[in-house]
Amino acid sequence: MPGEREIFHCLQARQFNRPLLEELCRLADVLRDAAQSKAGMEFLATVLNDKRAILYFAQPSTRTFLSFTSACQILGMSCADIRDLRNTSREKGESEEDTVTTFSLLFDLIIVRHFDPHFPARAVQSLKGGGRPVPVINAGSGKEEHPTQALTDIYTMKKIFQGRGGIDGKKVAFVGDLLRGRTVRSLTVLLTRFSGVKIFFVAPRELQVGTDIREMLQEEGVPFELEDNLEKVISEADVIYMTRLQDEWDALEGVTRSIDLGSFALTVERLKFLKPGAALLHPLPRRGEIPPEIDKDPRAFYWQQVENGMWIRAALIAYIFNRHTDILEGRPGFGGKGGLL
Ligand code: NCD
Repeated sequence: MPGEREIFHCLQARQFNRPLLEELCRLADVLRDAAQSKAGMEFLATVLNDKRAILYFAQPSTRTFLSFTSACQILGMSCADIRDLRNTSREKGESEEDTVTTFSLLFDLIIVRHFDPHFPARAVQSLKGGGRPVPVINAGSGKEEHPTQALTDIYTMKKIFQGRGGIDGKKVAFVGDLLRGRTVRSLTVLLTRFSGVKIFFVAPRELQVGTDIREMLQEEGVPFELEDNLEKVISEADVIYMTRLQDEWDALEGVTRSIDLGSFALTVERLKFLKPGAALLHPLPRRGEIPPEIDKDPRAFYWQQVENGMWIRAALIAYIFNRHTDILEGRPGFGGKGGLL
């Protein structure tokens, strides 16, 4: 039974327990099904038409920005955005805390992407001053967290393995820049909510996943292996989660690295070793790690991830505003319980 919401701000993946993940995925399915008909779309557009959102994106984004915008629009919310900090009063010396306070006075939801890993928490803190207590959603913070991409990935994996035991018991291989890939970190946290999962971290030594994540897995009792040879795990994995080189951090930190991730890329040749029922995921954007000719392989699910991201974000937003029961139980005129279907 849907109940009261358990989260208000969405800052970190660790806020999500298994029942909440299940509920959000179910909600995303109901939203997606409702959107199949005009009447359903019209209903969805009433769910949050009394709320407005601001998207404050201090880092580049295509999919996350657009899927949040679309998710808000589907639920009837209007959105504004700031994507270039040079157009804000920060240029005049305003603190970002004051900027966020301003957002809270004009909008009902603040969605943030920032290079500072602590920015979402700072935003919540700044609302305790002159602001209103509106929810804050982390759309990617520093190298640390990207909880809504992790929700997207879990939703996608649940759909792929529906009828095949779900995510429980699956072997997941993360490949690429695991040191700075925030989606990998957040998804690893969510994978600990499932039983019998095994994780392979496949990366060159300099880009291996952080020790904090390894310690977290040890504490949770989730088995994992560090690997530097993709070919060794490709035939064993149920999920291959590819990532790009996050070299924008080198420039920001004044570091010069010359890392070639070529041996951590998929090729049509290497794909021959992938299990027939396996799934290929990528948070995107990609570079050379998955050549476009692989897109038509039935095991490639990264384009589905893009669309799934919109529905799970819509589910999260409805949930945060405690409107999920309206959707899950249906409204009068929409056929009662589950009436949207
Ligand atoms: C990721 C991100 O921003 O962390 N993109 C996304 O939101 N899907 C991954 C990346 O930039 O490589």
